[in-house]
Amino acid sequence: MSGTTSEYLDIDAPAFERVRGLLRTKAGIELADNRQSLVVARLMRRVKSLGFTTFDPYLDLVERDECESGQFVNALTTNVTDFFRERHHFELLEGIARQAKRNEPFTVWSSACSSGQEPWSIAMTLDSTTGAPPTWKVLATDIDADVLARAQEGVYSVDQTKAVGAELQANCFSHDRTREFLRIRNELRSKVFFAQLNLLGAWPMKGLFDVIFCRNVLIYFSPENRVKTVRRLAGLLKPGGVLMLGHSEAVLGTQTELVSIGKTAFQRASGVRPS
Ligand SMILES: C[S@@+](CC[C@H](N)C(=O)[O-])C[C@H]1O[C@@H](n2cnc3c(N)ncnc32)[C@H](O)[C@@H]1O
Repeated sequence: MSGTTSEYLDIDAPAFERVRGLLRTKAGIELADNRQSLVVARLMRRVKSLGFTTFDPYLDLVERDECESGQFVNALTTNVTDFFRERHHFELLEGIARQAKRNEPFTVWSSACSSGQEPWSIAMTLDSTTGAPPTWKVLATDIDADVLARAQEGVYSVDQTKAVGAELQANCFSHDRTREFLRIRNELRSKVFFAQLNLLGAWPMKGLFDVIFCRNVLIYFSPENRVKTVRRLAGLLKPGGVLMLGHSEAVLGTQTELVSIGKTAFQRASGVRPS
């Protein structure tokens, strides 16, 4: 096998099992047993650029080097997202914010924020909701440092922002000189905070949240880790706080003390139901 970048690098069964085991340990992500071609597509360039001609020495490096381990996880996460994805969650967020106490800070956690479309959609919603508490902040976290950096940069092509309406686009973004890219305005930036966080690791933040978004990430976890994570998230909601899950993860909300309040949204008991 040659080390040139144009040639395909095959992965044998033991190396593929090593990849699955490492990804499970480091990120809780369960790879199906037929995803060899995905692994090769996502890792081949990195393996070759380091001068390796097979996967095993690369995986040895991943095992002993924390930095390479991060790159490995970044390469294998699936980061598909969009502005106002599952729009009903943002309509619900508006209703919750309107009913929230105006004299208390309103806090939202976007817990697998990918390249930022989710937390920025939350910020745009809170910024434009008449009657929302004047003080609000969004915590945006993800395990993948690459997408997190893009999220924080807050710059998107015009094409990527198609799902943002014209009015919000005008209020919340500024155009770059070429008019090909839009940049989140500074007023919103001061209210959104980014940090790298593994949902299966320690959660260092203090305080409870009014709303938590944990969408389209639990599907990659084992059934045990899904339930465990939803229970931990429920514990970080204020009484009456709401957890938004991805549409294929909704059943998980029913495995806790949370109460369903509509499509893929669950409320912690002893609170006022949002309208
Ligand atoms: C498909 S994206 C979902 C993005 C957004 N929540 C949405 O619904 O549009 C899944 C995200 O989960 C992140 N992720 C995967 N495993 C994670 C873990 N153990 N802890 C935190 N984030 C994780 C990935 O890096 C990726 O950005």
